[in-house]
Amino acid sequence: MKGIVFTEFLDMVDDTFGSFVTDSVLNDVDPPSGGVYSAVDSYPCEELIALVGTLERRVGMTMPALLRTYGRHLFGRFVVRYPELFESYHDSFSMLEGLDGAIHKEVRKLYPDAELPRFDCRRESPDRMIMVYSSLRPLADLAHGLIEGCGQHFGEVLAIDRFDDQEDELNVSTFLLRRQPM
Ligand code: HEM
Repeated sequence: MKGIVFTEFLDMVDDTFGSFVTDSVLNDVDPPSGGVYSAVDSYPCEELIALVGTLERRVGMTMPALLRTYGRHLFGRFVVRYPELFESYHDSFSMLEGLDGAIHKEVRKLYPDAELPRFDCRRESPDRMIMVYSSLRPLADLAHGLIEGCGQHFGEVLAIDRFDDQEDELNVSTFLLRRQPM
């Protein structure tokens, strides 16, 4: 997992709960990186899960809630860091449909070793879409938050229902997205 996912997470923890909490979480997890992450290097996904799991016990929020909150935060940070990737999109559904074929494809060019999920989108009507997340990593909650952040970014009201499944080692989550007609 790319360092940017860790640095943005620790920044969010700093801003939301204070640097004292960040320091104590890092102290407890004691990651091999020492808590110093470089955006371009890769670190085990388990390390992120350990950080979130320790924060869960500290702040009394569940891991799914923390990952979703982080997903919303991360989407906002992507908008600031990579504005050019957002220029051609004017609504959430077209952006989400372009995720694998355009956005994550660009990510892969920047970071050839990026560990990215797969998203299969099926538009059922202008304001209803099925989106299936498949990943070796258990980060459907992060995806959920990113999708919420995407809806907020475009000023849309998105109702999101999700069904989680496991196919061998693959985490598969089906998102049903219903948007208030624009
Ligand atoms: C709503 C839109 C998006 C969704 C739902 C989404 C979903 C995800 C998820 C769930 C992961 C974690 C890896 C996994 O689960 O296998 C991920 C990783 C990542 N995504 Fe996205 N993403 C979105 C938009 C973006 C955008 C706009 C960027 C901009 C550059 C981006 C860059 C990345 C990067 C750098 C990683 C880390 C790859 C790694 O750790 O190796 N994503 N994405």
